[in-house]
Amino acid sequence: MAHKDNGYLSAKESRRISRENKKVTDKLEKQYRRKNVPEDEFLTKLDNPDNALEVRDLHTYFFTDMGVVKSVDGISFDVPIGKTVGIVGESGCGKSVTSLSIMQLLQRPQGQIVSGEIRLNTGDKVYDIAKINAQTVQKLRGRYMSMIFQEPMTSLNPVFRIGDQVDEVLQLHFPGVPLDQIKARTIELLNMAGIANAEGVYRMFPHELSGGMRQRVMIAIALACSPRLIIADEPTTALDVTIQAQILDLLRNLKDKINSSIMLITHDLGVIAEMADYVVVMYSGRIVEQGTAEEIFAHPAHPYTIGLMASKPVVGKKIDKLYSIPGKVPNPVNMPDYCYFRDRCEMKLDRCNGEYPCEINISPTHKVSCYRFYDKKEGE
Ligand SMILES: Nc1ncnc2c1ncn2[C@@H]1O[C@H](COP(=O)(O)OP(=O)(O)O)[C@@H](O)[C@H]1O
Ligand SMILES: [Mg+2]
Repeated sequence: MAHKDNGYLSAKESRRISRENKKVTDKLEKQYRRKNVPEDEFLTKLDNPDNALEVRDLHTYFFTDMGVVKSVDGISFDVPIGKTVGIVGESGCGKSVTSLSIMQLLQRPQGQIVSGEIRLNTGDKVYDIAKINAQTVQKLRGRYMSMIFQEPMTSLNPVFRIGDQVDEVLQLHFPGVPLDQIKARTIELLNMAGIANAEGVYRMFPHELSGGMRQRVMIAIALACSPRLIIADEPTTALDVTIQAQILDLLRNLKDKINSSIMLITHDLGVIAEMADYVVVMYSGRIVEQGTAEEIFAHPAHPYTIGLMASKPVVGKKIDKLYSIPGKVPNPVNMPDYCYFRDRCEMKLDRCNGEYPCEINISPTHKVSCYRFYDKKEGE
């Protein structure tokens, strides 16, 4: 890359980068803003009809004046219908960018899906969200996929009453339904989300509610249209522990009631252990390991996953100091061409100096990108 030794860019260099960025993002923006495109262009097929979501070789970049940040750099995973997939990894590894890509809620024009596929199963059709335009995705968001964010206060509008905000979502997706029916459905949703005094809360403003109550309202909004896919990005991180457990229970019960799938993003392995059927481990914009929850917890294979497990406190185990993985995440503008984890890895081998390791199946469902498993592949 064009970085000088000291890591700073000259003004001239920075201008050149932003000119180049603009060329790329203008083209992608034009694609996204197109109007009245026949829907066929966005329709695609699934590898497996039992999946609610299939992500294939997704690349999402941010075109900044410092250079191109490859936040998500070629990830592939499935979310089966009716299952919960947990996505874990340290802060900054690309979890939120993955979820925002799926929802097409990236910060535009800098943030762009540059290649890959995101196949969303709506029941009778499958859409490729990666290539879709703004007009079409608007009809899918909320109806077939919805997202619960970490901080519910920033997602609720402070100047509108709770009831009106839920009504609005329903009215958008079910135009023509009379207001009294919409209102009844809102109250029902608030009840379902475990809000005892739903009639009262209907007339309240967001600031009158506690954090846990606000998150329940967000869940009610997210589930308003019984979406097939619910993306929960650190949904309980801002809440205290007892409320956390209640919210997770609620999510799990509602998911089973409407038979949707959950993509649960968290840095908390305890939450994953409790909720997830499948686990995806991300590191620096890539997936380093994925498998069933049982495989990942009983037989973690990637040194990074093993490190994550070791840095989790366990009740009843006496230790002087919690383990922490040495070193830090590499700079996403200037990624190395070898394994991104190599410089922090305590199990590295000579062959780890080679190119980035490819994904190896160590069971039909368990995959890992690590040279330590190359012999297994060759031996098969
Ligand atoms: N709007 C943005 N502009 C530039 N870089 C971004 C932006 N949003 C996220 N990134 C970068 O993308 C990477 C992944 O971020 P994110 O997905 O938010 O991580 P996390 O796994 O903690 O959710 C980080 O290196 C972050 O700095
Ligand atoms: Mg995040």
